[in-house]
Amino acid sequence: MVATIADTRVLVAAARKRGLSVGVVPTMGALHEGHAALIRRAREETGYVVVTLFVNPIQFDREEDLARYPRPLEADLEYCQSLQVDSVFAPRAGEMYPDELLTAVEVGGLSSRLEGEFRPGHFKGVATVVAKLLNIVQADRAYFGEKDAQQLAVIQKMVADLNIPVTVVPVETVREEDGLALSSRNRLLLPEHRAVAPLLYQALSAARASVEAGATDPHEARNAALAVLAQAPAFRLDYLEVVDPAIFQPVHVISGEVRIVTAAWLGSVRLIDNARATC
Ligand code: PAJ
Repeated sequence: MVATIADTRVLVAAARKRGLSVGVVPTMGALHEGHAALIRRAREETGYVVVTLFVNPIQFDREEDLARYPRPLEADLEYCQSLQVDSVFAPRAGEMYPDELLTAVEVGGLSSRLEGEFRPGHFKGVATVVAKLLNIVQADRAYFGEKDAQQLAVIQKMVADLNIPVTVVPVETVREEDGLALSSRNRLLLPEHRAVAPLLYQALSAARASVEAGATDPHEARNAALAVLAQAPAFRLDYLEVVDPAIFQPVHVISGEVRIVTAAWLGSVRLIDNARATC
């Protein structure tokens, strides 16, 4: 484990000198099988794998969410070791933000809807920290999960617009057997909420089935999903929409590939998920 930017740069430079390609997996820790899928993919595709563990304060829109975000550092380090990670960059906030940050990365359009609308400033914080992490590690390949599909799109656009010399590699969402997408926040769910949480993916699957059965009206797909969610009154929906997968704008007529995206609360835990569908 390294805690400083300077030490990370030394390690990565040494790996490069040995002729190794470099992969980076940015995370906020509390690692689970979803993160592991990214790490395994990096392990397969690159010679030197760096995992970053940093609970990035500037992407949280709620104090409470930041305060109770799990930080099991020891377990994360062991997990990384078991996955044959070469180095873990786990900086303190003061290392990443030593003084007032006057520069930020904002990806217009994409960042203002859905997650961006419900979590103001979130994507600005994500894009800024990811730009910093990519500059620190200077990897050849960077791995991100489809679970956070809008985040992935924001990062892809940032990398393209700013000519950041890295290949962004998307990795499929890893789910529990009951369909619930793995998330560090799942461990905060109350048992009665954990029991109904899989309905979120079932709702997305119902919308996908309706698209695949030929529904071209997004309302029809949406209603199929809402009918599933209605089984559990505990869900409080932020949004459930059928969007264009590149720009995350709502589609009016479904043709070709769409993404169905959702965010919903169970108690004080906010879950997000999405599914692709093709008509
Ligand atoms: P975090 O939520 O820790 O997620 C780190 C990476 O793991 C992200 O790319 C996310 O999409 C991916 N991931 C999480 N759960 C997954 C699952 N069930 N299946 C597949 N991939 C999954 O996302 C962040 O951290 C932060 O915003 C970050 C990009 C690190 C910037 O701070």
